[in-house]
Amino acid sequence: MKLGIFDSGLGGLLIAKAIKNHMPSIDMVYLGDTLHVPYGNRSDEVIYDYCYKGIDFLFSQDCKLIIMACNTGSAAALRRLQQEYLPGRYPDRRILGVVVPTLEKAAEQKHQKIGLIATNYIIQSNIYKEELQKINPKIEIFSQATPLLVPMIENDGMHWVGPILRTYLQPLLDQKVQSVILGCTHYPMLKSIIKKEMGDDLILLSQDEIIPKKLEDYLKRHPEISEPMGSSGIQEFYITDVTDSYERSAHFIYNKEIVIQKADIWDLH
Ligand code: DGL
Repeated sequence: MKLGIFDSGLGGLLIAKAIKNHMPSIDMVYLGDTLHVPYGNRSDEVIYDYCYKGIDFLFSQDCKLIIMACNTGSAAALRRLQQEYLPGRYPDRRILGVVVPTLEKAAEQKHQKIGLIATNYIIQSNIYKEELQKINPKIEIFSQATPLLVPMIENDGMHWVGPILRTYLQPLLDQKVQSVILGCTHYPMLKSIIKKEMGDDLILLSQDEIIPKKLEDYLKRHPEISEPMGSSGIQEFYITDVTDSYERSAHFIYNKEIVIQKADIWDLH
């Protein structure tokens, strides 16, 4: 059986790559819903339906465990998938999100003020605030919606990101945050630009650095999940809409040529 990684688009490849670097032998299958990216401006029901289809596809590819790498999906669909979908369909398989592990890591820093940049959906959902309350209510979190970033990253727009980032980050700088959570799969690509804009002292909490270690810990604690999983180093990549531009972006993000297959999970006719 395999590890599945689901994202709304190609940003989750950064998480997939980081997991592969950390655990090279793990058998892994990736699905990015390029047909519907970005999720971040959509409604609860629509995001749930997209995630449901994606997760169902990954389980049909023999995944034992799926990482919902998409923050927006983690906020909009994860709990319902865990509580309503899994028990009836795959009671002995699991789906894990990225919000709680990221906040656990943030809390370890012992900072009083942390910033968060993420999609509109994530900021409006308040999920980071609510989950942080449970982990450490003394930490203050300052949120900034950054809806232009994903469309720019997905459409070769990195060159223009700098000035927009500066505008987005200024309110967090004004609050004197000590660290910033990059609450979106795509944002690890922005680390060096953010450092340039905000200085080297600011700690960036980036999910490509957090999730692989958290996953490893989880697998150690759950042999019933890790033992059935294969260790031949298989890597499979699916997206829901294949174009030259997506293929180019995928190779760029994953940092090597990868074979991309089309996942036909949407009947468009
Ligand atoms: N993958 C999404 C996330 O992590 C961001 C991109 C989108 O809006 O779909 O929130």
